[in-house]
Amino acid sequence: MAARWALGAGAAWARGLLSWARPERWLASGSLFPLSCIHTSTSLQKIGKWEKKNRIVYPPQLPGEPRRPAEIYHCRREIKYSNDKMWYLAKLIKGMSIDQALAQLEFSDKKGAKVIKEVLLEAQEMAVRKHNVEFKSNLHIVESLTGKGRYVKRIRCHGKGMFGVMKISRCHYFVKLVEGPPPPPEPPKTGFDQAKEYVQQLRNRTLVHTL
Ligand SMILES: *[C@@H]1O[C@H](CO)[C@@H](O)[C@H](O)[C@H]1NC(C)=O
Repeated sequence: MAARWALGAGAAWARGLLSWARPERWLASGSLFPLSCIHTSTSLQKIGKWEKKNRIVYPPQLPGEPRRPAEIYHCRREIKYSNDKMWYLAKLIKGMSIDQALAQLEFSDKKGAKVIKEVLLEAQEMAVRKHNVEFKSNLHIVESLTGKGRYVKRIRCHGKGMFGVMKISRCHYFVKLVEGPPPPPEPPKTGFDQAKEYVQQLRNRTLVHTL
């Protein structure tokens, strides 16, 4: 019993020493150098992968080529809404023109619809201001995705000392707008088409170690 206590105390002492030696501890104290010498401005803020796609630079076009349509990537992260519910709204507006998408979201009663509408309006404004788009209605939605954000658990107290676990959900929303009217919808595939594709896929195989 005593030995176990001594071991526990030893471990606690070692942990205490480790936590004392952690760099953030003596950095935060400010005795070594003032924190003001570290840049914390917006220019050094972490920028996500999705927003970085706005910085793609294409090679110059040849004289006869048609003009390359503008692409706008925009997103919002850690929205206080469920990822599963957001998915339906994201799928709803995919492939629509921006005006139609805004109209659809305007008349949706869901909480997420309001957020997506805000993101779309922001993206539209960005298109006109930064991406050289002439008419703000001349855009369509090519990609509309959701992602799961940070879920945290909280205790929900019940009677008689029981409890449940709540999940506080957050989600991300990503959108890609492209200049121009939306493409016409693809004709639906019949079972026969799918079968033909499947047989073609089987024929495309390379069979190794056979005759
Ligand atoms: C099969 O191969 C052809 C030509 O190599 C290609 O065009 C076609 O897309 C392939 N089909 C599938 C289903 O992979």
